[in-house]
Amino acid sequence: RQGKKDRAFKIYGLVRDFYRILLGKDIGARALQYLESRNLSGAARETFQLGYAPPGWDNLIKFLAARGIREEEMVKLGLAQTRETGGCYDRFRNRVMFPIWDSQGRVVGFGGRTMGDDNPKYLNSPEGEFFNKGQLLYGLHIARKGIREIGYAVLMEGYMDVVSTYQHGVTNAVASLGTAFTRDQAKLLMAYTHDVVIAYDADAAGVKAAVRAAEILQNSGCQVRIATIPGAKDPDEFIQKNGLAGWQKIIENAVPLVQYKLMQAVKTYGLQNKRKVLQEVLPNLAAVASPIELEEAIKQTATVLQVNWETVLEEIKSFRKNTR
Ligand code: CTP
Ligand code: MN
Ligand code: MN
Ligand code: MN
Ligand code: MN
Repeated sequence: RQGKKDRAFKIYGLVRDFYRILLGKDIGARALQYLESRNLSGAARETFQLGYAPPGWDNLIKFLAARGIREEEMVKLGLAQTRETGGCYDRFRNRVMFPIWDSQGRVVGFGGRTMGDDNPKYLNSPEGEFFNKGQLLYGLHIARKGIREIGYAVLMEGYMDVVSTYQHGVTNAVASLGTAFTRDQAKLLMAYTHDVVIAYDADAAGVKAAVRAAEILQNSGCQVRIATIPGAKDPDEFIQKNGLAGWQKIIENAVPLVQYKLMQAVKTYGLQNKRKVLQEVLPNLAAVASPIELEEAIKQTATVLQVNWETVLEEIKSFRKNTR
């Protein structure tokens, strides 16, 4: 079992190096240019071990075959795919490659980004024995030092966000690789910190997923705040525009879940629709266990809604009664 795993780690390491070397060769020129167009530095490329999977159907297959690895094993590892007519072909072709590691820094899979607008934008290793997106956090083995030093972690959506913000000095960020944050990921992160700032994308999907991730983290016993990213679609774009100083303001302005939901509800329903706004946060308010925190949350809600705090308390009481 362990021998099998060790062999997988070894092969993934070989593949990572294969892609890395190609990024530096003539064939990788366009990929390098792409990364430069995204303003990624050489240091960032090195730290995150970025590479390039060349076009063609069997470049990796040949490379691995020459090292004694059978095609069947390549398929099992998600590196090659079988053809209906027999034979295999490389899964990753003409993509910028991001190795994905476990928390100990061993490569367990890859994400490949197209340089054009092919679909999918990101192609990941298939879910399976070695690669489970919901059970790892991208960049954790790099960020864990920063998380310990700074005292909290930042949770982002994508590889690009982590790499780009790291380059600008944000050393405590990890990515959930999409918006489907899981309990396992919460557990993983909480081995390093119980304090998390969520910085998902600014679009509707990101807002919705941030609330979900916050609830999961809170239920796991974590202290959570949610950041809002103004004038940019994600942390990568934001930090390129506003630098580390701008980023630090975003962190300072991050708010607890109840307040975040209030802000979103006011945006959606408007302040004249107080009932609707309150309904959004009542379940969260009713779930606050600590009296001090509840008082704080009630005050904030009352202020936003421009009502008396007693009114909010009454609403919470009747919500609790009705849901018992
Ligand atoms: N993702 C994925 N497959 C897709 C789209 C997204 O696996 N087809 C995951 C990737 O892990 C990606 C993350 O979701 O890093 C965030 O997606 P998105 O916001 O669309 O990508 P960005 O990180 O903004 O990437 P880029 O800036 O390169 O467009
Ligand atoms: Mn813990
Ligand atoms: Mn997104
Ligand atoms: Mn982006
Ligand atoms: Mn994004």
